[in-house]
Amino acid sequence: MNARRDRFYVTTPIYYVNDVPHIGHAYTTILADVLSRYHRLLGVPTHFLTGSDEHGQKVYDAAAAAGISPQEQTDRTVVRFQDLWKRIDISHDDFLRTTEPRHTAVVQEILQDLFDRDEIYAGDYEGWYSVSEERFYTEKELVDGKSPEGKPVEKIVEKNYFFRMSKYQEWLIDHIEKHPEFIQPATRRNETLGYLKKPLGDLCISRPKQRLPWGVELPFDDGYVCYVWFDALVNYISAVGYRRDDAQFEKWWPADYHLVGKDILTTHTVYWPTMLRAMGLAMPKTVFAHGWWLVSGAKISKSDGNAVDPMDIIDLYGVDALRYYLMAEMTLGQDSTFTIDEDGQPISFIKRYNSDLANDLGNMVSRVVTMIQRNFDSVVPAPGELTDDDRELERAALAAVDGMVEHLGEMTLDRGLSSVLEAVRAGNRYFDRTKPWGLVKSGDTERLGTVLYTAAECLRIVSGLLFPVMPTKMAELRTALGLGDAAANPSFEQLGQLGTLTAGSKLPTSQALFPRIELKKAKKTKEPKKAKPKAPAKPVELAPGVIDVHQFFETKLRVAKVVEAVPVPKADRLLQLQVDLGDERRQIVAGIAEHYSAEEMVGKLVVVVSNLMPAKIRGLESNGMLLAAKADGVVKVVTVDGEVPPGSEVG
Ligand code: MSP
Repeated sequence: MNARRDRFYVTTPIYYVNDVPHIGHAYTTILADVLSRYHRLLGVPTHFLTGSDEHGQKVYDAAAAAGISPQEQTDRTVVRFQDLWKRIDISHDDFLRTTEPRHTAVVQEILQDLFDRDEIYAGDYEGWYSVSEERFYTEKELVDGKSPEGKPVEKIVEKNYFFRMSKYQEWLIDHIEKHPEFIQPATRRNETLGYLKKPLGDLCISRPKQRLPWGVELPFDDGYVCYVWFDALVNYISAVGYRRDDAQFEKWWPADYHLVGKDILTTHTVYWPTMLRAMGLAMPKTVFAHGWWLVSGAKISKSDGNAVDPMDIIDLYGVDALRYYLMAEMTLGQDSTFTIDEDGQPISFIKRYNSDLANDLGNMVSRVVTMIQRNFDSVVPAPGELTDDDRELERAALAAVDGMVEHLGEMTLDRGLSSVLEAVRAGNRYFDRTKPWGLVKSGDTERLGTVLYTAAECLRIVSGLLFPVMPTKMAELRTALGLGDAAANPSFEQLGQLGTLTAGSKLPTSQALFPRIELKKAKKTKEPKKAKPKAPAKPVELAPGVIDVHQFFETKLRVAKVVEAVPVPKADRLLQLQVDLGDERRQIVAGIAEHYSAEEMVGKLVVVVSNLMPAKIRGLESNGMLLAAKADGVVKVVTVDGEVPPGSEVG
C-alpha cells in the first residue's frame, strides 16, 4: 500500500509545446498533483516531475509556420503550460524542458555510451513515417495505407542509427509477467503483451539533419539528431540527477508512477524499459495508463477541434471544482465523457458539482456553520456525552480516512472520493436524525452543542481528506470551522484523531462554499421538418407486444468489433469490453463471462444497441448493449455473417 512507501516519485508525460493545453493535459497533471499531495499528507517524501517535450518535427513545423526559430517557438509556447499549472495549483517539484542543457547533455552521454557498447549501430532504414505522430511504422502496421491511428504516412529510405531493442524482447515479456504491478491497469498489460507477441524490431533512434535539424545532436555523427521519443523518455532520469548527482538519483529512481495516457503505452512499456535495461538501470515500479476524456465519443484533442479549454471552466466555476470533477468523474484506466449541451453548458461537470459539492458538502457546511453562528454566537460549542448517533457519524468519518488510504494504494481515487462523500452524506443524515432545530426549540443546549460539535468534527476530517483535491476551498472550509492555520495540511494521522476541533474558537463570517449552479433551460430549438412517414389512414390497433416499424427503428443497432476484453474483478458474470464502432470506441460491460472467455470475445463482430443511455455497472461505464440469444441456459452473442466495417448499421 502507498502508505508504506518510503518515498514517492511521480511523473506526467512531458507535453508537446506546439499545442495549447486542454482538459486532457490538465487531467494527468492534476492527477499527479493530487497523488503527490496525498503522499505528502501521509508523510512520504515526494518528488513530482512534469515538463515539456520541445524537440521533434511538430515543433519544427510549427516554428516554420510562424516564421521563428524552434527555440523561440518553444520559449513562447511553454509558458502556456507553466501558466496553466500555476493557475490550477499544481505543486510540482520540477518542470523539465527537453531543450535545457541539464537534459540534452545527459541524452548525449547516454547515446555515446550505448554506441560505444554496440547497443546502437548504423544501418539502412526503410519505413513509413507519420509526421503528426513522429513515428515510423512498418508496412504490416499500416491500416488502409495510413497509420493505425488513421494519420497519413510517407515512405522513407535512409541511413540511420538503431537501438538494439529486439534483443530485450524475451527479457521484457518475462519482466511484465513477473511484475503484475509494472503495467496497470490489467487491460494495458495485456495490450503490451499482445504487442510483444510479434517479433520486436530494433528502434530507429536518429533523424538526418537535412530532414529535421531540430533535436539533440548525435555525439558520434553530427549529421543526425536524436529521435524525439528517445530524447523525451530520458527526462524521467535526467531530471533526478542521472549521471550528475548520484545521491539525488539514488533517492528518487526508480519512479513509483509514470502516469501516461493510453495512447502512449508502447513508448512507455516497450521503448522505455528496454532503453533502461540497456543502460543497466532499474525499471519504474508502475506505468499507469489512464483513459481519455471524450466529447461526443471522440478523444478531446486540439487538432480535432473539440478541445475543452480548462480556463473556460475555471473562470466560470473555479479551479477546485474542476479539479474535483476530473478526479471524481474518471475511473482510472477508463475513458470518461465530458458532456456539453447545445447551449455550451458543461452538463456532466455541472451535475457532479451540484450533487456532490453544492447539495451534499456545501449543504452540510452551511447547516453546521449557520447553526453555530445563530445559537452559540459563532463559538464552537463543547461536546457533552456522546450517543450512539454521534459515534456512528464518527465511525463514518474515520472509515473515510481508511477508505482514502486504501483507494490511494489501489489507484481507485474516484472510489476514495466517494468514500469521503459517503461520510458527508452520513453527516446530512445525522442532521436529519438528530434534528438540531428541534433541540433549539426545546432549549436542549447541551445536546445541541454535542450534535453541532460532532458534525463539525466530521467536516474537519472531510476538509483534510479533500485538501489534496481542492486545496483552496478546503483551506476556506478549515477557516470557516475556526481551525487556526487554515493552509496547514493536516497529516492523515492528525485527521484521524477525534476531538481535534477546538471548542471555544470563534468562527469567522463565511460565504457559501459551493453555491449551486443554475442550469440555463435548454433553448427550444425548432425541429427541422422531417419528411414524415405516411401515417396510416386509420390508426392501426396493435396487438399487445407488437410494435410498428417506426418503433423498431428507434433502436439503433450497429456492428461493433471487440478490440479488448477483460473479466471484471469480483463479478463472475461480467466482461469489460472495448469495442470499435468505426468512428468511435466504446466500453460495454456485458453479462456473458459464464459463456465466453475474454480471449474468445476479442476480434468478434457483434451487434450492439448503440443509442442506449450510458449506465454504470459495478462502477464501470457501459455505453451500449450486446445482443445475444438465450436458450436453456446457453447464451450465444449475435454476430454478423461475414466481414463488414465496424459501425455498419443493422436493420
Ligand atoms: N510528448 C509526448 C509525451 C512524451 S513523455 C516522455 C506526448 N505529448 S502530448 O502533449 O501529445 O500528450 C501528453 C499526454 O496528454 C498524453 O498522456 C496523452 O494521453 C494526454 N492526453 C491528450 N489528450 C487527452 C485526452 N483527451 N484525455 C486524456 N488524456 C489525453 O504524447
